Amino acid sequence: MDAVETAVRFLRDGGLVAFPTETVYGLGADATSSAAVNRIFAAKGRPATNPLIIHVADETRAKRFAAAWPAAAAKLAEAFWPGPLTLVVPKSPWIVNEATAGLKTVGLRAPDHPLALELLRRFDGPVAAPSANRSNRVSPTTAQHVREELGSAVDFILDGGPCHVGIESTVLDLTSPVPMILRPGAITLEQIEAGIGPVRLLHAVADPSTPAASPGQQTVHYAPRAAAFRFEPADRFRLARWCQEHIERSWAILAIGDADAEAMLAALPAIDGNLHKLIEMPMVAREYARRFYATLRDMDALNIETIWVETPPQEPQWLAIRDRIARATRPGAAALGIGPLP
Ligand code: TXA
Ligand code: MG
Repeated sequence: MDAVETAVRFLRDGGLVAFPTETVYGLGADATSSAAVNRIFAAKGRPATNPLIIHVADETRAKRFAAAWPAAAAKLAEAFWPGPLTLVVPKSPWIVNEATAGLKTVGLRAPDHPLALELLRRFDGPVAAPSANRSNRVSPTTAQHVREELGSAVDFILDGGPCHVGIESTVLDLTSPVPMILRPGAITLEQIEAGIGPVRLLHAVADPSTPAASPGQQTVHYAPRAAAFRFEPADRFRLARWCQEHIERSWAILAIGDADAEAMLAALPAIDGNLHKLIEMPMVAREYARRFYATLRDMDALNIETIWVETPPQEPQWLAIRDRIARATRPGAAALGIGPLP
């Protein structure tokens, strides 16, 4: 029996199967079974108020699990599926209420990964799958990350190698009067607008006591174990001073490209390669996204105490990465002595 067939059997038996997608690994269960879906929440330690994304192989199957399929959904599925775009539409009764945290809507997506598509085609039903990490931790982008996160809480892991996109899908609500991006991702607002016209971006922070519009809207989410701070490019030399003042501690700097950062560190005496890391992150957004979560995990594995993450440019292709950095870190300005004006 091949691995996909094994995975299908576990899903049919109400089990938990981790599988690769182009974005991050998902922790999948049969979305028509309350018991199976409840196991996802238990394994992740996820609040029951946070709805799950339902994965399907294609648009035809998506329509089975939606009570309505607006013209915008048809257009976007045609343009971007399989791909990193989740469409929130009215929910059909096939999807159990636990999967959508009691909401009347459902987030559906067809992931662009051959193993995932094979699994979804053979299973044929809807697969509820959040990212395969414990709640509030960094999403896994390799099968090994899933093992480290969930261990025996998952019945079976389909290994499809490292994820190509590296951050979670764009979540687009098509049930609001103007379509609204609840979570930015690789499919940009500009790409969506080119297909269906004006779209808004959610800025509000969700009230944690009610079903979250998107949990991504809580302030620290997707966080590494280390204390993580962000800094602006203009503050590199203040950061160098901080590093000098904390030379006895272990820290890492995730700088974006260029030799400037190296010059900055070269100016620091007493740098110890075991305790202090300068990571040159890619200057191309797509490549940065692919590496970001794995790099945070690498720093945790090295027992780095403090991670400093440089804020990328304010350009559309960086929006989703800026969002994930904002959720993985706290502002570092105060630590750098740049307090707000009195
Ligand atoms: O790329 C991804 O989307 C990955 C892979 C595995 O597909 N999945 C993922 O799932 O990131 P999760 O559970 O970590 O994030 C799901 C996001 C949350 O922000 C959730 O609130 C939102 O989608 N969501 C799901 N259903 C929703 C609904 N009916 N209404 C509003 N937001 C919804
Ligand atoms: Mg997640």
